[in-house]
Amino acid sequence: MARSAVLVASTAVLLALNAIASPFGFPHTSERHLRCDRSSFAGILPAGATLEKVAVVRQGGSYGEGAANVAYPTNPTNLPALCAVTVRVKSSSTSSYRFGLFLPNEWNSRFLVVGNGGFAGGINWLDMAAGPRYGMASLSTDTGHSSTSTDTTWARNQPEKKTDWGWRAIHGSTVLGKQLVSAYYSDTSLTYSYYSGCSTGGRQGLKELQTFPDTFDGALIGAPAWWTSHLNTYVTQVGLFNLPATSPKRLATVDISLLADEVTRQCDALDGVRDGIVSSPDTCPLNLTRLLCQPNPNTPNPSKCLTTQQLTTAHNIYNAYLSTKDSSLLYPGLTPSSEEQWWILVNGTEPSAFGIGYARDFLFDDPSWDWHTFDESVVAYAEAHDPGGATADDYAAMARVRERGGKVVLYHGLADGLVPTRGSEVFYNRTVAALGRDGVDEFMRMFLVPGMQHCWGTAVDAPWNLGGAFQAGVMGSGVWSVPGFEDAEHDALMALVEWVEGGKAVESIVATTWRSSMDPTSGVKRQRPVCAWPKRAVWDGKGDVDDAASWRCSS
Ligand SMILES: *[C@@H]1O[C@H](CO)[C@@H](O)[C@H](O)[C@H]1NC(C)=O
Ligand SMILES: *[C@@H]1O[C@H](CO)[C@@H](O)[C@H](O)[C@H]1NC(C)=O
Ligand SMILES: *[C@@H]1O[C@H](CO)[C@@H](O)[C@H](O)[C@H]1NC(C)=O
Repeated sequence: MARSAVLVASTAVLLALNAIASPFGFPHTSERHLRCDRSSFAGILPAGATLEKVAVVRQGGSYGEGAANVAYPTNPTNLPALCAVTVRVKSSSTSSYRFGLFLPNEWNSRFLVVGNGGFAGGINWLDMAAGPRYGMASLSTDTGHSSTSTDTTWARNQPEKKTDWGWRAIHGSTVLGKQLVSAYYSDTSLTYSYYSGCSTGGRQGLKELQTFPDTFDGALIGAPAWWTSHLNTYVTQVGLFNLPATSPKRLATVDISLLADEVTRQCDALDGVRDGIVSSPDTCPLNLTRLLCQPNPNTPNPSKCLTTQQLTTAHNIYNAYLSTKDSSLLYPGLTPSSEEQWWILVNGTEPSAFGIGYARDFLFDDPSWDWHTFDESVVAYAEAHDPGGATADDYAAMARVRERGGKVVLYHGLADGLVPTRGSEVFYNRTVAALGRDGVDEFMRMFLVPGMQHCWGTAVDAPWNLGGAFQAGVMGSGVWSVPGFEDAEHDALMALVEWVEGGKAVESIVATTWRSSMDPTSGVKRQRPVCAWPKRAVWDGKGDVDDAASWRCSS
């Protein structure tokens, strides 16, 4: 079918089909495009850009780079008919980045750019696959290197590669990508451009918005690692709170489970429903004294209590990391209810690679840098140097996004044990301080998702899926949107599109989880609205607590 659509002629063959409504409410306005071959793109590329590959993908096909792409080895499957293009762009005498484009045969004039994760270098084909499902052309860049998400060695003594990762690859790829999209669908213009990314992807989106406010009309920003200079140093500090591993202050996995249980015991019912989901951890007056081991030798089970030193470690992890000089905020602590994911940062015999690697390869270009020497001067150094210009802390610049009509939906799981949820609150609060509360509300809203971990998933059967970055890909290579609920009520990207194009501000998004939380075929377990902060979902006191209709947003 797709094959016959590619008419054989010399150049610029256009095909006209009747406009067909997409299955999820975005009508496809155009099915006219150039041939999917090298000749259609070669002439358009500027100096320094080279065409690596152009491939026809048939309806139901699969595309990607497989295991050769160490960051994103899973190829998306069951794709709509599309044209896949890979381009390499020279960004300096010592660096270059690549990007991939999916150009669906049935296009609705929209463009979607997706982000990356951690320090991962690779084209994120799996997340790009969402684009054509929505009828959008889509793009992802490898950010200028090939690596897994925890590998930073590529950055050592490579300032230009750091810059590509920091912002240049996303920006340059998007600008050139728009030109290629426009050329491919020659007689139809690109109307709206969107962005979706989580973690590093959230940071990439905020950085682009602050630096080039015209790039995107709407951005879906998940768990942004926006304060790079502080976050990637805090990550070393939070590891140190629980080191050395043999120290009596050490919280082992069993101790962290005790904390998790106690947080649930004290904080779960504050929203009127005891369901294992802590909805407002920040309003819970957590008191850990009950966990303290008694000096009584008859204490029933010493593994069910924590020593004073261990409680201090717990408080260090929950509390904000403050400067000893002037008490200024270096980084906010991890939120109560995030304990299930603490293993990522505090279970090793050294701090996480996200912290040590950043110091060694981004800050000091010194593989022998010793993490035992870490202190807050490293944070100050990071802030002063900000390698690659990665940090997205220009709050006032968000005004330019508002002025050009851009919209931002920010979300963050309240059980995130990797990128502290309160970091998003800091970003939101500082943007409010710069622009005013009303000035922010009209273009940017924040959604804190109870029980959701970093970017996706839940340990407590909390509704977590809202169509965010990575969320479909972690459930399967052929999954997209929120399976069974591909609409603007449940899918934050579609809600964002309605806000940008229809002026309908996003007030709430209904999140979903399944009986087996990552498996939509197991049946829906629970749905619940997530409300625009500072509103919270409140139960009506009588309906089924697993039904979104029993909840409303209230301040
Ligand atoms: C914390 O809980 C302990 C008992 O578990 C109690 O004695 C103490 O008064 C509580 N502290 C606060 C500040 O409420
Ligand atoms: C934490 O580390 C210990 C010791 O290496 C290991 O046995 C345990 O499985 C780890 N816990 C998690 C949740 O990874
Ligand atoms: C953000 O501001 C709100 C309202 O002023 C406040 O309650 C909250 O603690 C702040 N969050 C952080 C992390 O600073």
